[in-house]
Amino acid sequence: MKKRIGFGVAIALFAFALLSTRFYMVDLPVWHILGGGNAPDPATLHLRGEFVESNLGIAEDPKGTFTVRMIAQQYVFVPQCIVVPADVPIRFRITSADATHMLSFLGTNYGLKAVPHAVTEATFTFAKTGEFKIPCHEFCGPGHYAMRGRLDVIPENKFSPLTPEERRTCEPR
Ligand code: CUA
Repeated sequence: MKKRIGFGVAIALFAFALLSTRFYMVDLPVWHILGGGNAPDPATLHLRGEFVESNLGIAEDPKGTFTVRMIAQQYVFVPQCIVVPADVPIRFRITSADATHMLSFLGTNYGLKAVPHAVTEATFTFAKTGEFKIPCHEFCGPGHYAMRGRLDVIPENKFSPLTPEERRTCEPR
């Protein structure tokens, strides 16, 4: 009898894991393909819409709020390095060009899932200045373990004089 219950629990856990994976891999993309939400198409991300290259990185809107737009793709983040001011709410909008990726901001409690056909949005405030690694925390293929970006958090008074070009990315030039 006990064995039966254990087996039942195992089946239930397996079904749950399968269903939650299915949600991201199948249901969500299908829902977006059918026109749910304003879904970006992974095939044309770089060509038109919100995630064209010139629109990536941090942007300040007229109200003074900051938005970071990023693409995750096998096996890089674009931009690879982002610079943000400390102690200011930063809105992130991220999508994926292929598999599901997971950005994890090392040294903080923040993480973000990047899913094809969907935009993940979250607002984070980074209180501590410094450099934070952004490894990918969701297995996304053979290059997964080398997939990492960087976040530079700098004081607001050092951020505001930066030119749009300097704000776009902090990759070494
Ligand atoms: Cu991207 Cu793992």
